[in-house]
Amino acid sequence: MKAAVIHSYGRHGVLHVEDIPVPSIGHNEVLVKVEAASVNPRDWLLMRGVYQGKRFVEPLPATLGSDFSGTITACGANVKHFKVGDTVFGMQPLKGQFGAFAEYIKIRANAIALKPETISHADAAAIPCAGMTSYQTIHRLAQLKPSETILINGASGGVGTYGVQIAKAHGAKVVAVCSGKNIKMCKQLDADEVLDYAENNFEEYEATFDVVYDVIGRSSPRRATKCLKAGGRYVTTIPNAKTVFEATKSWVASLIMPGKHKRTQLIVVKPVPEDLTAIADLIGCGKITSVIDSIYTLDDIQSAFDHSQSWRAKGKIVIDVSGQLQA
Ligand SMILES: NC(=O)c1ccc[n+]([C@@H]2O[C@H](COP(=O)([O-])OP(=O)(O)OC[C@H]3O[C@@H](n4cnc5c(N)ncnc54)[C@H](OP(=O)(O)O)[C@@H]3O)[C@@H](O)[C@H]2O)c1
Repeated sequence: MKAAVIHSYGRHGVLHVEDIPVPSIGHNEVLVKVEAASVNPRDWLLMRGVYQGKRFVEPLPATLGSDFSGTITACGANVKHFKVGDTVFGMQPLKGQFGAFAEYIKIRANAIALKPETISHADAAAIPCAGMTSYQTIHRLAQLKPSETILINGASGGVGTYGVQIAKAHGAKVVAVCSGKNIKMCKQLDADEVLDYAENNFEEYEATFDVVYDVIGRSSPRRATKCLKAGGRYVTTIPNAKTVFEATKSWVASLIMPGKHKRTQLIVVKPVPEDLTAIADLIGCGKITSVIDSIYTLDDIQSAFDHSQSWRAKGKIVIDVSGQLQA
């Protein structure tokens, strides 16, 4: 099968589309013929060798890509809830291997969900990592209430476009932060207010937001303190020594002194099939949409990575693995 593989880490010239054997599956796994996959920054961070979760991914050579949508072609002996022919989508767990930028992927059955017929493979492949990051932040980690206000910094990217819509579907007031050229798109996603970061510094606002969801990691718990209300939460998607320390310190403080103090939280997305289904259902009933920036062929995956690395994607970058997607 055709797959996008790295044999060594690097910025350029290490990602090759080559023929490799179709993976063999274990008892709890399924084999999926991939129709579409989508790019996340962690794909190229892994390519460069600087991905924080690198040690959990199998040693090189590695097939990149964690998010996909496709059709099951084989099921392991213990797989009870899926059958050959089911169309499914999902995100490879951080442990083991990636492998979505390939004609076939093997994945544990407890990491996938059925794809509703009403949504396309491109829309489904866009969801997993970005959509679940925002879903889990809003519904679990920050426990955003419908009466609350959330500010989303990085609102026009993959994680942010789902964040704006999931928070709105939940009933919350949403303030989106993006560049001037993306204001119109964030308004179309139904954000209540949109701030151009070149003209407005949200950190200067006084006690305005219940949640600051810093998707792009350009703020910090200290700098966001002033703009958070009492009991507010600063959520970052960026796992590094500083954010892990701040989130742990904040969690311990909340145990010792529960109450109205401000929290720092770090989201680490997990593959949860129920969350995939919930997001797909929201898309199916027209409450949210997968914002697709562009679609690249598997052979042109380096161009997709180059675009993602520019940090200028509007929504998600999709890879047409089977060559069958409607653009
Ligand atoms: N912890 C986790 O579990 C987890 C899960 C998923 C993602 N992440 C991380 O979350 C981050 C975002 O991921 P993503 O998929 O959303 O990335 P992305 O789609 O590539 O983000 C691109 C967006 O970033 C925006 N942006 C660039 N500079 C900005 C700035 N200074 N202020 C505000 N927005 C800015 C751009 O908007 P403009 O063009 O309008 O500037 C663009 O729309 C990545 O670092 C990723 O690794 C973490």
